[in-house]
Amino acid sequence: MSIISIPRCAVVVGGGGALGQEISQQLKAEGIATISLERSSLEASLDISELKVVIEKLNPSAIVNCIAITGLDKCFLDPIRAFEVNGIFAIKLACISKILKVPVLQFSTDNVFSCDVKGVLYRETDDPKPATVYGMSKLLGEACKIRTNAPFYVVRLPLLFGPSNRNQIIHRFIKQIIKGIDIRVSSDVFSTPVYTPDVADFTVKWVKGKIQIGSVTHLTSGQLTTLHDLVVSISDKIACNGKGMVLAASSSEFSSVEAKPLHGGLASELIPTIDLESAITRYGEWIESNLKEIINE
Ligand SMILES: NC(=O)c1ccc[n+]([C@@H]2O[C@H](COP(=O)([O-])OP(=O)(O)OC[C@H]3O[C@@H](n4cnc5c(N)ncnc54)[C@H](OP(=O)(O)O)[C@@H]3O)[C@@H](O)[C@H]2O)c1
Repeated sequence: MSIISIPRCAVVVGGGGALGQEISQQLKAEGIATISLERSSLEASLDISELKVVIEKLNPSAIVNCIAITGLDKCFLDPIRAFEVNGIFAIKLACISKILKVPVLQFSTDNVFSCDVKGVLYRETDDPKPATVYGMSKLLGEACKIRTNAPFYVVRLPLLFGPSNRNQIIHRFIKQIIKGIDIRVSSDVFSTPVYTPDVADFTVKWVKGKIQIGSVTHLTSGQLTTLHDLVVSISDKIACNGKGMVLAASSSEFSSVEAKPLHGGLASELIPTIDLESAITRYGEWIESNLKEIINE
């Protein structure tokens, strides 16, 4: 009888999302065997025993979970779905990680903190206290209680921007600016933004075992900036005629079904911060070389 050995690979779940796409692409570019699963191949509501069978068959050396419902309003309006996808699914993965001894990288958010004190950067040792349904569901997904002895690593992220974040806030603003439309952007919403390709670079290092992280780690630029200032800095890097203006606004001008957390931002006691200025320059260069495509999206 011959035994067929399945080569090990990195498995990215939520591979069709903004972060999942970028991570899958960088893993493959690094020559790492990667299976990227979109929602059509893996639905978060899958029963845990079925999920275990799916994962066992893939024989992964590492699992990266990019599945999430990220919109604050979406989570508020359908909390059961938010807790199922952001919370329970991650707990199922943590259980499987423990049984199969496969490390899992679980992305979380600064929204697990209250984000209500100006100027505060939250550290890994600070106590979470989410103020939104999104934050609560992501905190459940950190699977703290069952993490003992499971190789389940939580990486909390601040606001993300980058080429793959096409349906998200920063890209939507940039698209309007280069179309010559003036925009109003909140100057009272803070974060310590990170460029999505830098999160992917970090993930590649983690998959390769080249980076040591804690059970909870903050990946951050550590540079507190407002949404308005970030968009202005990106716009300044784009050389094109007839750009729209970026005007400062109050977040109260924009309607939302749940009060938005204004004072996000992360610091890390475990890993170095990521340079924001260089990220903005790289993003500006990417925008300039993809202007036509972005305008026609
Ligand atoms: N983007 C940010 O600024 C930011 C900031 C902090 C933390 N994070 C964290 O980073 C991670 C990735 O976020 P992202 O920006 O990549 O979000 P995203 O673009 O919305 O991607 C989420 C992915 O999850 C999939 N998904 C949603 N519900 C599902 C379900 N029931 N079954 C299977 N797949 C499902 C989506 O599939 P469909 O496309 O088919 O819906 C999508 O591919 C999340 O953990 C998020 O909390 C993001």
